Amino acid sequence: MHRIVLEGRGNFAEWRDAARSLLAAGVAPENVDWRTRMDAAGDLFRQQDEGLPTCTSSPSFTVPKAFLPLAEAVICHSDPARFARLYRLLYRLQEERSLLAVRADKDVAELHDMVKSVRRDDHKMTAFVRFKEIPNDTGGSRRRFFAWFEPDHYIVSRVAPFFQRRFTDMDWVIATPKGTAAWNGEVLEVSTAPAENPHHTDQADALWRTYFRNIFNPARLKVKMMQTEMPKKYWKNLPEAELIPEMIASAEADVIAMAERAAREAPLFHTRLKSAAETPIVAPSGEPASLAEVREQAMHCTRCPLHCKATQTVFGEGPSNADIMIVGEQPGDQEDLAGRPFVGPAGKVFDQAAEYVGLDRTRTYVTNAVKHFKYELRGKRRIHQKPNLGEVQHCRWWLKLEMNFVKPKLAVAMGATALSALMDNRGKLSDLRGRMLDMGSTGAILVTVHPSYLLRIPDRVKQQEEMERFREDLAQAALFQRQQVGSPVASE
Ligand code: URA
Repeated sequence: MHRIVLEGRGNFAEWRDAARSLLAAGVAPENVDWRTRMDAAGDLFRQQDEGLPTCTSSPSFTVPKAFLPLAEAVICHSDPARFARLYRLLYRLQEERSLLAVRADKDVAELHDMVKSVRRDDHKMTAFVRFKEIPNDTGGSRRRFFAWFEPDHYIVSRVAPFFQRRFTDMDWVIATPKGTAAWNGEVLEVSTAPAENPHHTDQADALWRTYFRNIFNPARLKVKMMQTEMPKKYWKNLPEAELIPEMIASAEADVIAMAERAAREAPLFHTRLKSAAETPIVAPSGEPASLAEVREQAMHCTRCPLHCKATQTVFGEGPSNADIMIVGEQPGDQEDLAGRPFVGPAGKVFDQAAEYVGLDRTRTYVTNAVKHFKYELRGKRRIHQKPNLGEVQHCRWWLKLEMNFVKPKLAVAMGATALSALMDNRGKLSDLRGRMLDMGSTGAILVTVHPSYLLRIPDRVKQQEEMERFREDLAQAALFQRQQVGSPVASE
């Protein structure tokens, strides 16, 4: 019997190297006892056990391409039998080349069940990680976040790159009983050591609950489906989940009350819209003395009715003395919830293009022409609506204050709304696209398209071409940024 003790728990490379040696020595699966160091602790080798066979010739064998991604997933499964099952399959594949296509085969079926379970766990982790802001005691300017998650399998290293791409501009740690991942803007570190839950809370917990309360429609409640989507085992780490029992219990009464109200009254937000439309705009009292004060005033903005339906004001962010200001249109669904600009799909397109051309987002001030999310409800979905000229005009108040305090040397107008806000409705995007316009004492304006325009292009070739043009535009901003080296960057 060969006893193989692996260090890692979901380390594919380690299993693969051991499996290669065993296979090269022709060791049959029933003669291998696979363990991890943790399982083997305190369990001394039995006298008759051998370790890895010594291999004199270089192993020559191949596996079907489809085996590798399956094996990489299975190795992260928490079942201690995973190593043995994989090796049995690998061994059989040497003779039965088409084995993977035989779904009725017991080994193959088990493998697919394990893959499915690991992939479901990956998906749940991407959906149910809830970051909480923690104090930045490192002296750096980046915001720091912590999340606690309890996966079924050893998936932290598989899923960590997703969070690295998605939350690249903040420092974060995701701790789990099956390992930890940490990102500091430069290095992604993953360890398999089990962590403990420090039970952090922050203001975002209340926001999650508000969001959940708002999207919950008692008339469409399907408890079984809800529990499949959001299984109970995740509830204890989801701030919004504590509302679920109460919401389910009151759903029936809420539906009756809703029906009665609908017959008598206009929807609640109509009343808010009406009163907002009737209330004259009052400029906030007192001149703001800093960008932080402008931000604070904007949080209570009621200059136009858009605040009635939005979750919160999404103000700009970035260094208060940035050389470059990036201006978009308005926050989208995800920005509205997160309270930060360009963190959703359009933000991802922008981030990727910026990274490609070497434009450092952390040294730019990123904002929008309009600070509240304008949308139309379609079922449960909030569909983006373009802000009208009046709304853009009302919100210019804030953009102008941001310009006055940040004093960017270059403003990048992404899309027609940003252009209209920056140039007071003068100039057409198609005429000015790609141009660096000198605006005298207020710096320059570089005009480009909005990243969500790129996402909407149905034709892949055209999309690629437009993406290329977008990058070329941003490359001008990147060059401008490089030419500013030496300017100290203030924190937000
Ligand atoms: N689109 C924008 O214009 N701004 C955002 O912040 C997000 C999407």
